[in-house]
Amino acid sequence: MNTPVYPVRWQDNRVLLIDQNRLPNEYTHVEISRVEDMAQAISTMIVRGAPAIGVAAAYGMYLGAREIRTTDRDEFLMQLIEIGRMLRATRPTAVNLFWAIDRMEDTARNWSGSVAEMSGQLLIAAQKINAEDIETCQAIGAHGLMVLPSSPERLCLLTHCNAGALATAGYGTALGVVRSAWTQGRLARLYADETRPRLQGAKLTSWECVQEGIPVTVIADSMAAHCMKQGLIDAVVVGADRITANGDTANKIGTYSLALIAKAHQIPFFVAAPRSTIDFSLSDGSLIPIEERHPSELYQIGETIICPPGVEFYNPAFDVTPAHLIQAIITEFGAFSPAEIIDLKHISV
Ligand code: MRU
Repeated sequence: MNTPVYPVRWQDNRVLLIDQNRLPNEYTHVEISRVEDMAQAISTMIVRGAPAIGVAAAYGMYLGAREIRTTDRDEFLMQLIEIGRMLRATRPTAVNLFWAIDRMEDTARNWSGSVAEMSGQLLIAAQKINAEDIETCQAIGAHGLMVLPSSPERLCLLTHCNAGALATAGYGTALGVVRSAWTQGRLARLYADETRPRLQGAKLTSWECVQEGIPVTVIADSMAAHCMKQGLIDAVVVGADRITANGDTANKIGTYSLALIAKAHQIPFFVAAPRSTIDFSLSDGSLIPIEERHPSELYQIGETIICPPGVEFYNPAFDVTPAHLIQAIITEFGAFSPAEIIDLKHISV
């Protein structure tokens, strides 16, 4: 299969989500017609990845809005904000979720037509967020290509988690850079960290690469330093869930250690993310809320319990890479040093 992957799709009056919990063994879709089901799909990670959950939440807002029965404008907005509250409670770290909900609420607030037309406008707004994200990722891919090391001619890149088409509306951020390197003949191989505990690298990034014939080697997270020392890695490219005004970056747990070992081996470390992932309201990464997920992600693999009873667990889903470990943040507006991203503050998306 070499067809584009769209994890969130509007079709026949409902949303189709690729069920990412079933990949790579099953490629199936879940149909979502109600906002409650969308909220559930986001928390259970049927849909995941910062931009993708933003797009999913935008459609969720519409699904909720179309069930509002009032002709009173203020009442409509109040109910819409309640719907937003439900979606906001699903996952705390990726700021794209909150960005998309804010944008949907603004659409309703700024609509000067009748209340009856409001939900139709919200569908248009959600579709716009969806379409824009694909273009944004393609632009990130093109800009990323410009900042990758110029030698060797064909690079070996390392990524963590899945920042691919599955994590966006399509194409991907970090994997967008990998895709453009591949299509331009600049990629020799992608190394994909398996990404414990949920294995997004082993299950999802490798799946995307196989669909497109991109050479991929999956490694356990603990093997990255060894691979770097052996000279197997030319650059690291990862996605982001929230970037603060100073360039600190929250991404999947394990990203911080990857940045540290990349620094130790003088390997450039890049973050690829849309402007909508930058949260200028937070001055630094210590302020980013870090999601903690259920310990079963650590003690259970499939049906098998791998730890003895009586053990305690700590399962943060994200960590924060300090800005000084990041060579450049690749956005749809170009690649910037972490100190320069403040220049993007005036661009509203
Ligand atoms: O917990 P997940 O799978 O939603 O985490 C995903 C990541 O950390 C991605 O790297 C990030 O969202 C960027 S996706 C383009």
